[in-house]
Amino acid sequence: MAVLLTNISSIITCAVGNSTNKSGIEMQDIGEIRNGALLFDKEILWVGNSADATDYLMKNNPAPITQVIDCKGKTVLPGFVDSHTHIVFAGSRAGEFARRLQGVSYQQIAAEGGGILRTMNAVRTASQTDIEAIGRKLALSALKQGTTTIEVKSGYGLTFESELKLLRAIRTLQQELQLRVIPTFLGAHDFPPEFRTNRTKYIDIICNEMIPAVVEENLAVFCDVFTDTGYFTVPESEKILQTAIDAGLKVKVHADELSSFGAAEMAARMNAISADHLLFISEAGINLMRESGTIATLLPGTAYTLKLPFAPAQTMIEHGLAVALATDCNPGSCFMENMQMVLSLACTMGGMTVEEAISASTINGAAALGLSNQTGSLEIGKSADFIIADCADYAELVYHFGTNQVREVWIQGKKVV
Ligand code: NIG
Ligand code: FE
Repeated sequence: MAVLLTNISSIITCAVGNSTNKSGIEMQDIGEIRNGALLFDKEILWVGNSADATDYLMKNNPAPITQVIDCKGKTVLPGFVDSHTHIVFAGSRAGEFARRLQGVSYQQIAAEGGGILRTMNAVRTASQTDIEAIGRKLALSALKQGTTTIEVKSGYGLTFESELKLLRAIRTLQQELQLRVIPTFLGAHDFPPEFRTNRTKYIDIICNEMIPAVVEENLAVFCDVFTDTGYFTVPESEKILQTAIDAGLKVKVHADELSSFGAAEMAARMNAISADHLLFISEAGINLMRESGTIATLLPGTAYTLKLPFAPAQTMIEHGLAVALATDCNPGSCFMENMQMVLSLACTMGGMTVEEAISASTINGAAALGLSNQTGSLEIGKSADFIIADCADYAELVYHFGTNQVREVWIQGKKVV
């Protein structure tokens, strides 16, 4: 039972062959085929020129074709992989946002007990069901806009019980939704007020209680730490990440988001799969990340919301890094779940080309989750996760911004939108 898309005006494969990502100048090559065709069941069976499809089908006689869809005037591309979100939380921070527009800084609001701690208070009193409802709504909205894989972090509970509550909410979404949900433990998102004066004690709870429980219940694939001024220091972060690695988790870092803090350097030393944000990354950080193969995940919606300078995407690409793009969707620094908007910001404000942004939001997002052997590109044997967009020229995905151009979303060969 296979489906054939024919006459696709533009199909973007993002093919990487035996590689796991596109780095540096490779990001410019998105593997476009004009007038293409795609044959798939749960997996991709064949991709090529429309004109060669009949020939291929006659010679290879795959599973019977149950549906042929004419995609004239459309662009087909891999589903977006949003590799960094915080969509399970409770409450709203609209009031803080309004204050920031009046000139109060993110750090100042945090110092007054707002910021992450405001959301933490809301999460601690919310039920798991209420948290799931918020996450579900955002995940479904992301799906409609082309996201087929989404990473979701805990990090707004900051106690043993409430961090597990968030991770269990993520697991509910993972079991119930059609998009692929990848869970990350972020107990080291901030110090809760009860341990502000005893940081070591909170780190001990993370290392000796939370991480073992997360692993025992199989609630996360990754462990993340917010390494920045006012949050976790480099030595504190290293201790937590090493404990996570020893327990069998892979690691990610919120690195150099608010200041140049040596966090990208640490992420590289710890062989993190990705370092994220990087607005204030140093030259040394860039070089070390290239050597360790750590993916640079940029979150332009956050720079936009916080009115901070965008991460130096071009410098990173020139230095040969593999750059990924994600939303960072969260109630504080970036309340936005739309990957098409991320492409627009990354190109128009962040200095990336359309091709680089497409590579970054598909195959490199998958690489940032260790999933690029399964999704993120349209290659034989990979999961049939793709978008049909209402444009004949892929540049329109960025050029025509502020509207949803996604007409259909398919995951594992099933039409879900
Ligand atoms: O990725 N940097 C840390 N965490 C989030 C912000 C969290 C919040 O403000 O609620 C981020 O920007
Ligand atoms: Fe984040």
